[in-house]
Amino acid sequence: AWTMGAFRERAIARIREQVGTGRVICGLSGGVDSSVAAVLIHEAIGDQLTCVFVDHGLMRQAEADEVVSLFRGHYNIPLVHVDASDLFLKELDGVEDPEQKRKTIGRLFIDVFDAEAKKVGGADFLAQGTLYPDVIESVSFAGGPSVTIKSHHNVGGLPERMNMKLVEPLRDLFKDEVRALGRELGLPETFVGRHPFPGPGLAIRCPGAVTREKLDILRQADAIYLEEIRYAGLYDVIWQAFAVLLPVRTVGVMGDGRTYDHVLALRAVTSVDGMTADFYPYDMSFLGRVATRIINEVKGVNRVVYDVTSKPPGTIEWE
Ligand code: XMP
Repeated sequence: AWTMGAFRERAIARIREQVGTGRVICGLSGGVDSSVAAVLIHEAIGDQLTCVFVDHGLMRQAEADEVVSLFRGHYNIPLVHVDASDLFLKELDGVEDPEQKRKTIGRLFIDVFDAEAKKVGGADFLAQGTLYPDVIESVSFAGGPSVTIKSHHNVGGLPERMNMKLVEPLRDLFKDEVRALGRELGLPETFVGRHPFPGPGLAIRCPGAVTREKLDILRQADAIYLEEIRYAGLYDVIWQAFAVLLPVRTVGVMGDGRTYDHVLALRAVTSVDGMTADFYPYDMSFLGRVATRIINEVKGVNRVVYDVTSKPPGTIEWE
């Protein structure tokens, strides 16, 4: 019978066979997929693996620290943590187009990762947390033209550029199977059960140009929203939930004064695989509570709206 325990054993044997005595480098994104891949590969080949975490400064609140302490503390897997947030923000300065943001982030990621890989003496293999849906999404169906809605190429181009062979132990798995494998490998539930998070991070949740100030506002609002979702026991019912800081300011009133601040949009969807999605039908009282907290606690936001668009015709992210 097919069990996760058996998959784990087979995957480990396959990784050992492919890699031999070679050296593997793995880019961590902070997400579930690359983390599970890294822990699995580490179990197979130990210190032949080096993990590099390129921190682009576009993660949610406290997320970068969580990744670092999970790997160094919990697993004792050596991890190179590169804080490249200044570089990413500098290069993103004034970039408004969503695809241009992805391209900029993808290019910098490759540059930084490549430089770090050289510093640790290079490697023969590049490990990636590619899943089955990633494999099929890049194929066009029924011979028809393939239309790129969003380029998703966070690390695309990396293998060619670095001239390394790929190790992709999760290629046959769907997201829920990767989570099950993560549990099997002892990853904490709070980590394994996390909502998906896009490679370009908060940059695509700040429509318009990204600034440090906007990212700070967005991080605070997003943390409050997710905290309320957890309090309400809804985190695991929802596939993905996040806030989007709009480049629109509206007039409000607070105490005796007029305010003129940003609009924040809240998004929450249910989905099986992210390819289609329905907006989550919250109770209005929940939304009201979240809006009140955000407006009271986050300086820079004076209006909150809820996105009731499903996919299609909307996409999950706003950019
Ligand atoms: P969309 O917005 O296309 O998103 O409906 C579907 C799923 O993909 C995630 N997403 C991305 N993930 N790089 C990623 O790694 C990207 O550029 C990207 N764009 C969207 C999104 O968060 C959702 O889970």
